[in-house]
Amino acid sequence: MSRERDQLMGHGADNDGIEEYDNPLPDWWIGLFIFTIIFAVGYTAWYHFIGDQSQAGSYIAQLEQAKELYPTKTASVSTDPADIEAGAKVFADNCAACHGANLEGGIGPMLTDKVWIHDGTPEGVIKTVTEGVAAKGMPAWGPILGPNRISNVASFIVSKGGTLAPGEKGEAPPEPAAGGDGAADAVVHPEGPELPPFAVADATPEMIAAGQEVFKTNCVACHKEDMTGLVGPNLIDEEWLHGGEIGDIYRTVTYGVPSKGMVSWEPMLGDEKVRQVVAYVYSKSHAADEKPAQE
Ligand code: HEC
Ligand code: HEC
Repeated sequence: MSRERDQLMGHGADNDGIEEYDNPLPDWWIGLFIFTIIFAVGYTAWYHFIGDQSQAGSYIAQLEQAKELYPTKTASVSTDPADIEAGAKVFADNCAACHGANLEGGIGPMLTDKVWIHDGTPEGVIKTVTEGVAAKGMPAWGPILGPNRISNVASFIVSKGGTLAPGEKGEAPPEPAAGGDGAADAVVHPEGPELPPFAVADATPEMIAAGQEVFKTNCVACHKEDMTGLVGPNLIDEEWLHGGEIGDIYRTVTYGVPSKGMVSWEPMLGDEKVRQVVAYVYSKSHAADEKPAQE
C-alpha cells in the first residue's frame, strides 16, 4: 500500500477553493471494519445454527421454563419445608374456617388423626381436596387453588402425620347412626353468635340482583337454579326447616347446617355476599306473599 500522505486531490477550482486531501483510511478503522464483517459471519452462524437463538427456539425455551414455573400437571406431596410452610399459609387462608386452625376439625373433620372418611393416603388427600365432597359441604379446591397450592396444602397436611401409608388401614369414622341420628343432631340448627338485624326493607333491588349471581355460582348445585331443591331442600315452598323469615335465612346461610351438609357460607363469601344471596332467596321464596304485610 502506498502511503503518500497529504496529497491534495486538486479539485479546489471546481469547489469555491475548498481543497481535499487524498489520505488512506486509518489502520484502526480498516481493522474494525474487517472485524465487524468477520464477526457478522460468525454471529449469524451462531445465532441461527449453533446457539439456536431464533425466535422459534427461544419461544420453545421459554415454554419449557414456564412449564417448570407453572406446572399444569397433577399435584403431588413434598417434604420440602418451604412447601410445607407455604401449605400452612394456604390452609390458614382457606381451610382453617372449617377444619380448625390446628386441623382439629369443626365443620369439616379433623385431619391429624387416623380417622378418614375418604382415602387417607397423601394421594387420596390430594384427590379429596381437588374434587371436594359437594354433597357434604367440602368445596372442590382444584379450580380455586391450582395444583401448586394444592400440593403445598396437601404437603402441610401430610406433615402433620395423620395421613396413611399406602396399604395402611385407617380407622373408620364413627357411625352417626348410633340409634337414630345420634350426636349429629346436636348441631342441626345453625349455631353462632347473634347476627346484626336484617329487615326485609334492607333487601334493595341491587342486592337482590347481586344475590342472584352469588346464588348461581354457589348454591345451584344443591338447591337448583329454580330453588326447587336437589341435595338441599326446596327454598320456594312453604316449608322451612330453619325458619323462613329473612333473619332466619340469614342465620342459616351464615352458619350453615354442617351436620346436614349445608355449608357455612360466611367464611367463604363474606357477610356482604351472604346478605345479597339471602335477599335473593327471600325475594324468590316470598314472591307470592302480599307485599304490604311485610313492610
Ligand atoms: C366450607 C367448609 C370447608 C372448607 C372451607 C374446607 N373443607 Fe375440607 N371438608 C369439609 C367437610 C364438611 C368435609 C367432610 C366431607 C365428607 O363428610 O365427606 C371435608 C373433608 C376434607 C378432607 C377429607 C377428610 C377425610 O376424613 O377423608 C380433607 C383432606 C379436607 N377436607 C381438606 C381440606 C383442605 C385442604 C381445605 C382448604 C383448601 C378444606 N378442606 C376446606 C369442609 C370444608
Ligand atoms: C353442598 C350442598 C349445598 C350448597 C352448595 C348450599 N346448600 Fe343450602 N342447604 C343444603 C342442605 C343439605 C340443606 C338442609 C339442611 C338441613 O337439613 O337442615 C340446606 C338448607 C338451606 C336453607 C334452609 C332451608 C330451610 O328449609 O330452612 C337455606 C336458606 C339455604 N340452604 C340456602 C343456601 C344458599 C343461599 C346457598 C348458596 C350460598 C346454599 N344454600 C348452598 C345444602 C347446600
